[in-house]
Amino acid sequence: MRPKPVILDVDTGIDDAFALMLAAKHPALNLLGVSCVDGNCPLDQVVRNTLLVLETADRSDVPVALGAARPLVAEPNYALAVHGDDGLGNVQWTEPKSKPVKPFAVEFLRDLILGHPEKVTLIPVAPLTNIALLLTEYPEVKENIEQLIIMGGSAGLGNATALAEFNIWHDPEAAQIVFSADVPTIMYGLDVFYDVHIGERELIELQNSKNTTAKLAGEIGKYIAGILGYPITIGDAGAVCAAIDPDGLVLETYPTTVVTDKGPARGMTVVDRRPYRDTVENERALPDARDVSVALKVDSHRYAKLWLETITS
Ligand code: BDR
Ligand code: CA
Repeated sequence: MRPKPVILDVDTGIDDAFALMLAAKHPALNLLGVSCVDGNCPLDQVVRNTLLVLETADRSDVPVALGAARPLVAEPNYALAVHGDDGLGNVQWTEPKSKPVKPFAVEFLRDLILGHPEKVTLIPVAPLTNIALLLTEYPEVKENIEQLIIMGGSAGLGNATALAEFNIWHDPEAAQIVFSADVPTIMYGLDVFYDVHIGERELIELQNSKNTTAKLAGEIGKYIAGILGYPITIGDAGAVCAAIDPDGLVLETYPTTVVTDKGPARGMTVVDRRPYRDTVENERALPDARDVSVALKVDSHRYAKLWLETITS
């Protein structure tokens, strides 16, 4: 099998780092490039962290581009309380030597997608600002996108607020553009996000590893365990697992939309799971919704093993 061409859009972030490590090292994937957006931390830190992780994984050949430094409409809201002041657990590590490429992320993504002979899988694990700009400015890219695997949203509870998941809440206007675009989409959201995790024993093994990628994962994982406790989720890396091993997920297709109103539901993904939804009057159908494949269950052990085996290889 030829490796699947993929692009990651990241706001690196501890679990984005876990996702980058997996995408950089797994032989079933051909990581064409990585675009950066503000989210967990400001854009300059996202870029530094992304380059640091790729260099550690011996993949500084993967091009990295700078994208949006703020959401389309909202004010930025960072998650430094979880990811550390530098977004990467304040880890003591060699600073990256590599630099981002020149084009802005939106043109970078367009060129990578249209320039590839096969359809490309796009895996955004961050606020959707870059992807919304891409689909709006260059809608022709849709033809060559195999699938969007979005880490974001929830069919149930939120984490940034009671109802909204962080990536969607950070830029709801962008998320609504992406969720309403005519591209096959998997929502790898909070319904599965926390289920794929590793425990204290595995984390200590990573910290003591001679493999530098594994060691970095162990060090930054230790930071987040210090804040949120054990076990720690592999988080965004689960969306990359879904590109490698889609059978590890239970997906169900539902009309889905994003709340962009001000108020307590801002940034919520509304997933219409009513079994009788097709029989209700049209005016009570979910407005502006599009069918999305929602990940409702994950084979946690299988994905955790996939991640651990790959990053320690
Ligand atoms: C998402 O928010 C960020 O903090 C994580 O990197 C992940 O992408 C989870 O809600
Ligand atoms: Ca992220």
